[in-house]
Amino acid sequence: MDIEPIKQTLDSEIAAVGSLQALEELKVKYLGRKGVLAQLTGQIPTLPPDQRGQFGKQANELKNKILTLFAEKQQALAGQAVAQRRTSVDFSMPGIAQDLGFAHPVTQVIDEICGMFRRMGFQVVDGNEIETEFANFTGLNIPLEHPSREAFDTFYLDCPAGAEGKYLLRSQTSTVQIRAMSAQKPPIAVVAPGRVYRPDAVDASHSFMFHQIEGFMVDTDITFSDLKGVLEFFAKGIFGQDIAMRFRPHFFPFTEPSAEVDISCIICKGKGCSVCGRKGWLEVLGSGMIHPNVFRTVGYDPKKYTGFAFGMGVERIAMLKYGIHDIRLFSENDLRFLRQF
Ligand code: DAH
Repeated sequence: MDIEPIKQTLDSEIAAVGSLQALEELKVKYLGRKGVLAQLTGQIPTLPPDQRGQFGKQANELKNKILTLFAEKQQALAGQAVAQRRTSVDFSMPGIAQDLGFAHPVTQVIDEICGMFRRMGFQVVDGNEIETEFANFTGLNIPLEHPSREAFDTFYLDCPAGAEGKYLLRSQTSTVQIRAMSAQKPPIAVVAPGRVYRPDAVDASHSFMFHQIEGFMVDTDITFSDLKGVLEFFAKGIFGQDIAMRFRPHFFPFTEPSAEVDISCIICKGKGCSVCGRKGWLEVLGSGMIHPNVFRTVGYDPKKYTGFAFGMGVERIAMLKYGIHDIRLFSENDLRFLRQF
């Protein structure tokens, strides 16, 4: 095959190309696996040995020429396309409306609650979603035989080789008590929002993942009335100034005494309806005075310090506040639901 005529055809073919797509097709013709250049170089072994070097050199020159021509043409065509687009803009066309994003209702409720606690002097702290069994249970005075430690109530993880103790997806934000108190000395006041995980079957009021906000305050003279005052400020801010609150004695391993906190039903104002199960009260959170064993875990002197702690489910608060009946709505990403907030 002679090289000279190929060069000429190439020149005229390239000149005739009018679009990037046509250029791409021509590229395949010359540089493709079965293209002109491949055929040329495929001939080399059939030539007499003394002609091979010269022929190879020419084929190589041709290849470089092809590459340069294609690059130039490509640039020229791209430039044309831009120029064309510039002249074809129709400034009378209506614009494309940009949808502004907004925070998810769970995030909005977290921000609102944390904002209220921040105004009372609490710092907002992050925790780990992957936790040790120690921070989730042992350090919080939860005994080995406690049912919440069972594998059907907690997601345990495969541990890295050489790890001490078990790892898990935290089942409560109370872990942040251990983390934050181990890192800071009193006085300390913290709220910690975040995700928690439990292997619950999903239904209208349960999910394998939901959000909690943990709060606690420790100093030399913190009392149960501080807890009541702080929680009343929070509950009235979220649910309205006219609600009533009550503390019901309860048990949590990491607080003593412990209480569950109810607000008067925001639907029936305490008379009894289907939302509050005719009780007139809605449970909103768990709380209590921090157990001396927790102080021992984090290296605080239980004789010197006292403190309170509380923990609430964010989805539950949002459901009560906005009258949402199904927790699954929060994670289905249905904009018809989300846009209402
Ligand atoms: N961690 C508890 C739970 O997930 C909630 C809770 C109750 C947190 C009492 C507290 C507390 O700090 O004092 O059910």
